Amino acid sequence: MLGVFVKAALRRGIVKPCRLVRPVIQIPERSMMHQEGLPKLPVPPLKQTLERYLTALEPIVSEEELEYTRQLVKEFLEGGVGSRLQKSLERRASKTDNWLSEWWMQSAYLDCRMPLAVYTSPGVILPRMHFRDRQGQMRFAAKLIAGVLDFKKMIDTDTLPIEYLSGKPLCMDQYYKILSSCRIPGPKRDTVVNYHSGNTPITHITVVHNFQFFVLDVYHSDGTPLTVDQIYMQLEKIWNSSLQTNKEPIGILTSQHRNTWGKAYNNLIKDKTNKESVRAIQKGIFTVCLDAPMPRVSDELYPSRVAAQMLHGGGARWNSGNRWFDKTLQFIVGEDGTCGLMYEHAPAEGPPVVFLIDFVVKLMQRAEIVRTPMVPLPMPQKLRFNITPEVKRDIESAKQNMNIMVHDLDVRTLMFSHFGKSVPKKHKLSPDAFVQMALQLAYFRMYNICCSTHESASLRMFKYGRTDVVRATTTDSFKFVEAMQDPTKQNTERLALLQEAAKTHKNNTYDAVHGQAIDRHLLGLKMLSIGELTSMPEIFMDTSFAVAEHFHLSTSQVGSKTDCVMCFGPMVPDGYGVCYNPMDEHINIAITAFNSCDETNAAKFARAVEDALLDMRALLEDTATAEQ
Ligand code: COA
Repeated sequence: MLGVFVKAALRRGIVKPCRLVRPVIQIPERSMMHQEGLPKLPVPPLKQTLERYLTALEPIVSEEELEYTRQLVKEFLEGGVGSRLQKSLERRASKTDNWLSEWWMQSAYLDCRMPLAVYTSPGVILPRMHFRDRQGQMRFAAKLIAGVLDFKKMIDTDTLPIEYLSGKPLCMDQYYKILSSCRIPGPKRDTVVNYHSGNTPITHITVVHNFQFFVLDVYHSDGTPLTVDQIYMQLEKIWNSSLQTNKEPIGILTSQHRNTWGKAYNNLIKDKTNKESVRAIQKGIFTVCLDAPMPRVSDELYPSRVAAQMLHGGGARWNSGNRWFDKTLQFIVGEDGTCGLMYEHAPAEGPPVVFLIDFVVKLMQRAEIVRTPMVPLPMPQKLRFNITPEVKRDIESAKQNMNIMVHDLDVRTLMFSHFGKSVPKKHKLSPDAFVQMALQLAYFRMYNICCSTHESASLRMFKYGRTDVVRATTTDSFKFVEAMQDPTKQNTERLALLQEAAKTHKNNTYDAVHGQAIDRHLLGLKMLSIGELTSMPEIFMDTSFAVAEHFHLSTSQVGSKTDCVMCFGPMVPDGYGVCYNPMDEHINIAITAFNSCDETNAAKFARAVEDALLDMRALLEDTATAEQ
């Protein structure tokens, strides 16, 4: 999910390490104490990282390339450059709360110039709701808004339960960054503003319907939130005053390439009215997009269509203008029962967002609209935009660009219903490793080779930790997939290889979440090389490094209690984005690719994943039966 484009920029040396101007966020006392107690992200030993790097290369580069890289690694280690960079990194780690977080925010997100839609912002697909009309849409949206405000109360009152991973408390910082937050485009680099916990509490959300934005105050003057009933009435007013469908889709500007939007933004906010309207959206606690119905599709294709709607809105003539892609949290509720969200990735990872969804969905299942006394509430303020010819031209160009992106995104959501994580667990295998091995098998069956695979692993055991990478393609995974395709192999041997590969994956995951993976360490060394050396060390200029960084498979498990699945675009033009949610008895998997690449095909890959999962279950069960 991190931009490979950023990595490309790093390789070309155009990304410079620099200080991120981060807004001051006041974290409440309890959280502050919790935060202070968290360990710092370690800098792994240099030799360990380099050895693991060579091991990770084994299944994805040729023997000649590997031998050449071994020489480069030796020189890096013994020639003094490596240890000099390592010492600098250790110095940085001793002086900062987290040696990586600023670099990461900058290089993975704010410097990335690709559009947020499709390329960096993930979407979340929720099951189809039962309503099919505007009353149902607004009733649902009202409950959802009230639920998110309840969640916000936990943040405001510092009562959010602290999360744990493997018995260790996690950094909760990301929760303080997802509300009242927005990305702001720059001509060369973006920033993120956060108004949560500022001096003036933010009391409004923004709602967009038919491309028209409204400020909806969700608190009374005494600080109590509006009831579901009251929110519903306010939404109805918004709906009725935005019936015209011929409005300029101003929000589509935010879907542009970041440099283009950065220029258009400066032009847009030259006008005082426009500037105030944009500020209102940026400051809002979150945005709710009341979407128009999308073209009907079969039940089978429905989740894939929703994934596309969450990632880009469906195109200029559908809901792509019904967004402010820079906004950190946008809940999307369609008149046709569609429901989900999209979020801007810079401030947070998927798990806190999905935790919020779990909370809200649970609350919504309980909440009923309770009739509350009628109190006169002001009309939500419609945000005005003065559309100059220049702004109009920018909107037209954004529409064209969006339509190209829509046509290029190939997305397939696989609701795998045959079994869930209880099957691998029963056979004493890690469900995550099991799914990853199925992805390996599917890829190998389609392409007859292994590729570099990125699985996000949480670094939230550490203060301000974000993610590192579990490289799911290993020599052991390669042996397993080869054996599955080799008719001379017995199932007992294949099973033993699967168990070994899953064990290796689990060990690598353990290392990653404990701060001992290789990718962020190598990034840190590379960042320092740019800042401190006159030329880039050869290990970062090598073909093997380019292969290792070209993640044909960009994957992540984002588990939840709700029956939903996150989705995101591929990291590279010729790769797949795969996000999955293994539930007890089924697995939701969202797969993306680009239509402009002849070699990839999301539907075909989805079928290959389904077959791989079924074949692997058969392997577990056949072998178990044979042993009885
Ligand atoms: N036998 C039986 N059960 C096993 C097992 C085994 N060998 N290995 C694991 N399990 C169980 C676990 O105890 C756990 O049980 P639970 O469902 O009761 O909690 C369950 O199987 C899941 O474990 P596993 O499949 O190994 O994965 P995980 O939950 O440890 O997740 C990661 C692994 C990498 C996904 C997780 O550590 C992580 O980092 N998540 C965050 C990812 C992220 O930030 N993504 C960013 C997206 S924007």
